[in-house]
Amino acid sequence: MRVSLAEAVLLLQQGEVVAMPTETVYGLAADASNPAAIEKIFATKQRPANNPLIVHLADVQQLNNWASEFPPIAQRLAHAFWPGPLTLVLPALEQVLPAVRAHQPTVALRVPAHPIARQLIQESGLALAAPSANKYTQLSPTTATHVEDGLGAALPVIDGGPCTVGIESTIVSVSGDEWQLLRHGMILEAEIAAIAGKPALPLHILSPKAPGQHLLHYSPRTPCLLFNNRESLENYAQSHPQSAALLFGAPCQPALHGSIVLPANANDAASQLYAALHQLDQLHAEQILIETPFTEPAWLAIQDRLQRAAYRQDSTKL
Ligand code: TXA
Ligand code: MG
Repeated sequence: MRVSLAEAVLLLQQGEVVAMPTETVYGLAADASNPAAIEKIFATKQRPANNPLIVHLADVQQLNNWASEFPPIAQRLAHAFWPGPLTLVLPALEQVLPAVRAHQPTVALRVPAHPIARQLIQESGLALAAPSANKYTQLSPTTATHVEDGLGAALPVIDGGPCTVGIESTIVSVSGDEWQLLRHGMILEAEIAAIAGKPALPLHILSPKAPGQHLLHYSPRTPCLLFNNRESLENYAQSHPQSAALLFGAPCQPALHGSIVLPANANDAASQLYAALHQLDQLHAEQILIETPFTEPAWLAIQDRLQRAAYRQDSTKL
């Protein structure tokens, strides 16, 4: 159900969930200080309780209500990348609801750049916990229609048009004067390192990976096969014409049930990635053949999402 900003503000203040546009993906928002509202997020998404949520703030000043420490590296990153597609994981104040942080001693915080998300936070006067607005392990939504297809037409959604970044935020945890990259996004590791003034610590040293980074994630319903290169994809396609394909840069030679070619520029490809997978999923092809895109660092977040989309117990790279 499409709702206006004013209607969404009222619903959030009453402890309801509302899907909102952000620059990365649509989020399923609720009052981060209301335990019943947080419960509704987990129930709507069918998300396991051990997977913590990102709290969305209006500005960096609000951070003091959530984090117990704001180390200089985190301050510099916030200054450089907020508002925008960066999430900072910081030590949490004790009063942060255990359900929001899944009983971790840390909390994930982000100041989004999307004007509607910002207005919603400001006008409601709330910090908004918001995971991506999809069922657990399914494809993330980048339009209001994706949200309705995944979570049902009864869910209140603010339609803010297609998301521009198109892939979930980069997640960085900061502890003292060290930092770690917990999830790739379109803000690159090298950009973070340049602002932090030092490289990331390897993941196994400080903390476990971001909980809930399930291997099968961001998945269409149609089985996906990931190919190392164009040649192996085209060979396979020749004997499997009922397949659909997701390609990068140039179209495929063999005739297929359907295919989408994404741009050879990583930012452009990211902004269209989930919409392309949603569209291919609706073709009800036998399978979706996915080309592994370019290997430059700018493509790491896209590669990460494609590997998760294609992850199956029986799948290896072809
Ligand atoms: O771009 C985004 O980040 C979107 C939009 C809506 O802001 N949100 C999003 O939320 O992707 P979600 O819930 O789908 O992914 C959040 C990730 C999860 O992998 C979770 O494990 C991690 O953030 N996370 C949250 N709190 C954490 C914490 N305290 N420590 C480590 N990881 C955390
Ligand atoms: Mg998600």
